[in-house]
Amino acid sequence: MTPASIDFRIRVIYSRAVSDDAPRPPDPRLWAISDLHIGYAANRAALEALRRRNDDWLICCGDVGETLEQLRFAFDVLTDRFARVIWVPGNHELWTHPSDDATDARGEARYAALVEAARLYGVLTPEDDYPTFAGHTLAPMFLGYDYSWAPAGMRDIADVKAWAGEHGIYSADERFLHSDPHPDKAAWCRARVEATAKRLDAVEGPTVLINHYPLRRDLVRLTRIPRFVPWCGTAATEDWHTRYRATACVNGHLHMRATDWRDGVRFEEVAVGYPRHWKTDRGLDHYLREILPAADIRPPAEGRGGPEWHW
Ligand SMILES: [Fe+2]
Ligand SMILES: [Fe+2]
Repeated sequence: MTPASIDFRIRVIYSRAVSDDAPRPPDPRLWAISDLHIGYAANRAALEALRRRNDDWLICCGDVGETLEQLRFAFDVLTDRFARVIWVPGNHELWTHPSDDATDARGEARYAALVEAARLYGVLTPEDDYPTFAGHTLAPMFLGYDYSWAPAGMRDIADVKAWAGEHGIYSADERFLHSDPHPDKAAWCRARVEATAKRLDAVEGPTVLINHYPLRRDLVRLTRIPRFVPWCGTAATEDWHTRYRATACVNGHLHMRATDWRDGVRFEEVAVGYPRHWKTDRGLDHYLREILPAADIRPPAEGRGGPEWHW
């Protein structure tokens, strides 16, 4: 074969490869899931069964488990299944729990140990530069809660606890989640909100806001345990979805998976939860929620809608 005929064959093969008829690989997708709670054997097995999605990214927004071993196990699996993993802490990872024999660090020191574990696996955390995906800045956040969703005027934490206790509600956070060196969890939350807002103020263009807790009070629909609401977020983030031009806001914690719309912004609650909160025979792939590009998803005409529950 002469060099000219080789060149011709290469050009034919190339033109076939780039023609409109040729199948194109699908664009990478950004998925989200949270509250894997792999301390439960069924959840841990389901995590291992998750299928590989080579070019796709995953948001994992908290409550992986209670121990560093569980967090490392999840990072090991997830970084094998996805091209990039973004994680934010839930309250359960932040517990200084007697079952965690890897560390007894409290508060900020425990959070630092979690971030260090993430970095060993190349998992992005709220302490890293915000990555971009499909033209969006992805903002993983660790904000906490400050009891501001307690009844109006009730600001003393002891009063909030007593008010919840009247209905038999007691958050295990009050036993296991410490705020050292901050005087209390509300002060830690205020510091995190202030620092995160400063970072977001410098961002331009559309965003995806990622947090363990919902950003808005009206998305907390705990019909059976309504007095648990003070442990679910902060009033400081009520308007962040519009202030920071979010296309989507992703959270977990509630174990009540739903899609909602406010002001044309999509809110995705993606928490799997304890085995009684999801259909284990469906597997975790069923519970991955597409965040981007989500080309087929359009806001309702009036920009407000939901909840659309995801069972
Ligand atoms: Fe959870
Ligand atoms: Fe949680």
